[in-house]
Amino acid sequence: MSLISLLATCLWFSLVSSFTGANEANVNCLKTIYSQVRDPYGYLSSWVFGENVAGYICKFNGVTCWHDDENRVLSIKLSALDLSRNNFSGPLPSDMTSLIPLVTILDLSSNQFSGEIPASLSNNSFLNTLMLQHNLFTGQLPPELVSLQRLSQFSVADNQLTGPVPNFKDTLKLGRESFANNDGLCGRPMDACVDPEEEMIRFGKMGAAVGAALFAPLVAFLDSFVFNGRKKQGDMRHMF
Ligand SMILES: *[C@@H]1O[C@H](CO)[C@@H](O)[C@H](O)[C@H]1NC(C)=O
Ligand SMILES: *[C@@H]1O[C@H](CO)[C@@H](O)[C@H](O)[C@H]1NC(C)=O
Repeated sequence: MSLISLLATCLWFSLVSSFTGANEANVNCLKTIYSQVRDPYGYLSSWVFGENVAGYICKFNGVTCWHDDENRVLSIKLSALDLSRNNFSGPLPSDMTSLIPLVTILDLSSNQFSGEIPASLSNNSFLNTLMLQHNLFTGQLPPELVSLQRLSQFSVADNQLTGPVPNFKDTLKLGRESFANNDGLCGRPMDACVDPEEEMIRFGKMGAAVGAALFAPLVAFLDSFVFNGRKKQGDMRHMF
């Protein structure tokens, strides 16, 4: 099971579980994560299982609960783990919304996640923090991300992304540092993109000019042909 599916499962448990034993499911979920992660910097050293106090997992580093007296996980932050030695890699699932619909903070920075950033993240409408910096993401940023109304912190710096930066609302105040160090992100706040539409119009105008240049003699030719034809027809009518 990939780490992301595990995370998703944990968060999912915490959301849907009103059944008895929900807390237990959350604890087991975190246990599984704990057993899979290499943690050379001791980021997870506070993850000590076995206590039987409600809400004890909420004090774990990186874990936030819905309520401090319940073991129901609201968010998991696993940034700042050792890049070279942890195993957080591979693409993100395309159905993030159905996996973790109510997640507010998704911090996957400083790992080795790859592939495209799924457009479906834009449907995780409770997200206020989306940190994806220092990974290996490629492709373009989904323009749909602008529909994340609650977003206040966002970074995709230090990936391999290209293409235009989505047209985020001004109040978000994202600086270049949120997008720096990619293979070619352009548009505000980065340098302007070469607008493909403008390029197309220019190309179109050029095409029209070339077309006209080629077309004019053809028109002239057809015109004379038709004119001649009519003249001939006229001549013929005249004959009968
Ligand atoms: C890391 O992932 C690779 C490939 O998926 C796997 O073979 C390896 O056992 C994993 N290492 C750890 C520590 O989980
Ligand atoms: C968001 O959810 C709606 C409704 O389920 C769906 O139609 C739409 O395709 C989703 N958007 C993205 C970008 O996945």
